[in-house]
Amino acid sequence: MNDQGTVLVTGGAGYIGSHAVWALREGGRRAVVVDDLSTGNRDLIPGDVTLVIADAGDRGRIEALIGEYGCTAVMHFAGSIVVGESVDKPLAYYANNAGVTLNLIRACLAGGVKRFVYSSTAAVYGQPDRLPIGEDAPTRPLNPYGHSKLMAERMLRDAAQAHGLQYAILRYFNVAGADPKGRTGQSSQRPTHLIKRACQSVLGLGDGIEIFGADYDTPDGTCVRDYLHVSDLAEAHLAALSHLGGGGESVILNCGYGGGASVRQVLAAVEAEAGVKMNPRQADRRPGDAAELVADAKRIKAVLDWQPRHDDLRYIVRTALAWERHLIACRSSAPAGP
Ligand code: UFG
Repeated sequence: MNDQGTVLVTGGAGYIGSHAVWALREGGRRAVVVDDLSTGNRDLIPGDVTLVIADAGDRGRIEALIGEYGCTAVMHFAGSIVVGESVDKPLAYYANNAGVTLNLIRACLAGGVKRFVYSSTAAVYGQPDRLPIGEDAPTRPLNPYGHSKLMAERMLRDAAQAHGLQYAILRYFNVAGADPKGRTGQSSQRPTHLIKRACQSVLGLGDGIEIFGADYDTPDGTCVRDYLHVSDLAEAHLAALSHLGGGGESVILNCGYGGGASVRQVLAAVEAEAGVKMNPRQADRRPGDAAELVADAKRIKAVLDWQPRHDDLRYIVRTALAWERHLIACRSSAPAGP
């Protein structure tokens, strides 16, 4: 029988975590959110979902919460995600991504949690030898961010084998867009991601957009990525939980659609949706960028019967733009400061 216990969601007040919390609620699952609000925001989650402001690596606190709320599964979204920052502050990334996950796994084992869904990244692959990238491709991260996520994966796999935990490791490709119902979206103050930055740019925020490298060996010279809608990713988390709850094997799964769009194609989609020209500046390559990252998505579709609903760049951009407009409206209606 499928497990219906409470799901403890770390980082549940963040961008992807909050979409998963809404999806859990719509799927009839109880959730409790643990978030230190360092980048998350209470307003992104449903008002009737409990938010505990705590560090996901606080072992004693997490173990107590697992008992208090009857948690049988954990979704671990909390973590640091900016590649460039990880190069400047590697130890902070190892602490926050690997160290916190170690403590969280220990708390799960002590508290009797049976299932663990982990937010990993395509950054674990580094520069791929071939495309699309399958889950069995070599893992050769290019930066501390990718290394720290891969270390967490390894700990989870070894702990699962030794202690009987079930896991789903989800390796995200380029997550973008926002909740189609406008309830949550990406709210980071200093975004680095292309789609969010481009949407801000057409709405007059920021100081314009740059294309980082136009001399790659790709059809139009700019980097190609597999952009997937955040709500499809949230659904993949629910499907992973059901898979494990139904007795399914532990799995590592790529999360992407298996197709790619170039930087120029993304900018064209944003311009078309907004009806505004952008005039991007051409800049040097960004260090560490691979020319092309596209997922082989066969395994996730087969194992989870995952049927993405928003595999459409224009739709992804439309929801991202709607969210940016919403943020602008919120800011302009907020009371002026002292
Ligand atoms: N880019 C620009 N201008 C910008 C921002 C980005 O040209 O202002 C380019 C980047 O150089 C890259 C592409 O747009 O070629 C996408 O860049 P993002 O920063 O949006 O995303 P990344 O591909 O660097 O990284 C994301 C996640 C990682 C994940 C990776 C895997 O942040 O965690 O996708 O596909 F590992």
